[in-house]
Amino acid sequence: MYSTSFLDLPPIAHAQGTVRLPGSKSISNRVLLLAGMAAGATRIEGLLEADDTQVMRDALLALGCRLQQDGEALVIEGLAGTLPVHTAELFLGNAGTAMRPLAAALAVLATRHGGAFTLAGTPRMHERPIADLLAALRPLGCPIAELGTPGYPPLRVGDGAPHPLDLARPIRVRGDVSSQFLTALLMALPLAGSAQPVVIEVDGPLISAPYIDITLALMARFGVSVEAQGHARFVLPAGARYTAPGRLHVEGDASGASYFMALGAIAGGPVRIEGLGLNALQGDIRFVDTLRAMGAIVEGGQDWLAVRRGAWPLRAVTLDADRLPDAAMTLAPLALFADGPCRLTGIASWRVKETDRIAAMATELRKVGAGVAEGPDWLTITPPRQWQAARLATYDDHRMAMCLALAACNPAGLPMRIEDPRCVGKTFPDYFETLFALTTPVADSVPVLTVDGPTASGKGTLAAALAATLGYHLLDSGALYRATALAAHQAGVALSDGEAVARIAATLPLRFDGERVWLAGADVTHALRLETTGELASQVSVHPPVRAALTALQLSFRRAPGLVADGRDMGTVIFPGATLKVFLTAGSRERALRRQAQLQARGVHARIEDLHADIEARDARDRSRASAPLKPAEDALLLDNSALGVTESVAQVLDWWQQRRPFAA
Ligand code: DC
Repeated sequence: MYSTSFLDLPPIAHAQGTVRLPGSKSISNRVLLLAGMAAGATRIEGLLEADDTQVMRDALLALGCRLQQDGEALVIEGLAGTLPVHTAELFLGNAGTAMRPLAAALAVLATRHGGAFTLAGTPRMHERPIADLLAALRPLGCPIAELGTPGYPPLRVGDGAPHPLDLARPIRVRGDVSSQFLTALLMALPLAGSAQPVVIEVDGPLISAPYIDITLALMARFGVSVEAQGHARFVLPAGARYTAPGRLHVEGDASGASYFMALGAIAGGPVRIEGLGLNALQGDIRFVDTLRAMGAIVEGGQDWLAVRRGAWPLRAVTLDADRLPDAAMTLAPLALFADGPCRLTGIASWRVKETDRIAAMATELRKVGAGVAEGPDWLTITPPRQWQAARLATYDDHRMAMCLALAACNPAGLPMRIEDPRCVGKTFPDYFETLFALTTPVADSVPVLTVDGPTASGKGTLAAALAATLGYHLLDSGALYRATALAAHQAGVALSDGEAVARIAATLPLRFDGERVWLAGADVTHALRLETTGELASQVSVHPPVRAALTALQLSFRRAPGLVADGRDMGTVIFPGATLKVFLTAGSRERALRRQAQLQARGVHARIEDLHADIEARDARDRSRASAPLKPAEDALLLDNSALGVTESVAQVLDWWQQRRPFAA
């Protein structure tokens, strides 16, 4: 997952490949709650691991459920109608699928058994309405207190004492703000232990009805078959109680799939999606109808889908989003590639989601050049006549980030900046990694930042810090020469024999794994850093055939989203077209002091005069050597970091970097 403050996406030329989806958020959180309340153990496979499911898992643990990881599966031993813990404070992040059902379930349990639970979340969660659910629960006799703004979380449900539940009359609930209120009631009422049937009636229209079908199907898996009379009246059977189904497999997230279906439709494809079939339980699977209406070619089977580009540009459509609550959002990026304006209607509920999605989408799509008109419950999007590279805000909303990323497929070949990319962690932590794995960037569009400088100038530290800040790959080219030297030395090859060493360099069995480096299966992280290895490296790096043999490997590090390359000839030979080249120029005395401090930390004492002399001699040798001498690229920016800490150096380079990027302020 990218935790950087922004992520720059290179323009996408083509998309093709296979995605294995994370589990459905809606199904995962329902199944977690049902398994947590059921009698017996449920073995859940394919569960989503993300922020929204983590808060639900934490809540179940706090309530006394037993959760056990068994390989890829999670085994939950349910409470079987009991309430072992009578008070708890639950933090539910910004997960509506945790807040609403838990509020209802705990209101019922606390009222029946005696208990008091507080449910709180992020500031945005405290702006998301819950009044309709509370209005349905209070007539049952559930004591509920709003601890902040009336009608919104945080809440306290139960007052510690048991109270009778009044279930004789039909329970009425509104369904026009969120279907989650009805889902919450449906899932909670079997916990009331009623000997009589319990009736729920929906007041007025119900939005997002497909989600109710998921709720009913999953309740049935846990032994409670609700009689649904249309989507207006629901009857729970007398004596309803949850029993664990044994094992349960969570299908892939259909909303998450929509971005990759769209990607296939826009950027060529085929994009094959595994873990989700055409007859999936989730209503969002019907997004395939929209894609087909727009001209994309969709195929699929039991457990897979494949989408590729058909009509191009896509055919403009009008979509009534009510049947596709979350996936409908993905029409917004598709609309950027249509042959006319696309219209989304029936999206009033967007205003109370993770953010006001109508306003947010309108603002951000305008930044890339689209024409957007908005109303209380609709949006019309006209494709850009002229695309613009944009800094796209994401409003702590995973779906905003995932939708907006598709703007990187623009035909103008412009990069797009996604701010706060971490927000995809709500439902799809590896979203960007998955996107990069499926896509080919426009030729030469992956940005490169090179860092070079004399020995002990701190270039390695600076390069690593820059790569971490930008979320870019890191090429420590010195490590390749060090590894070559080590491999040649171990093979007994004379380091003066350029051709022989080059043969070793050409097939170096080297693997980078985070901080660790492996050579032919052995961990050489430490060995590579030794002074003695550096000495060997300086001997092999003078041979032109060795340098040539390492070129392809070095070029292969240039992958989306970008590269920071550190070392001698990065800006001059390997990446002459780099976006920004930085050359460090700290004075030799300052570098000697740094080297001394470094050695001291390792318990080695050295005289500053000796180190200074060594460094000056090394500089002279490095500058005068025939092959890849130490010299700044002509277009390099010089940074004297003698008096700068790493943070200040990073800030200076990032400032230069921003000036070279095409994003309007
Ligand atoms: O930066 P370093 O100390 O890890 O580099 C090890 C040796 O390899 C050093 O002698 C410089 C040389 N080198 C090179 O010739 N070209 C590079 N791109 C990187 C390092």
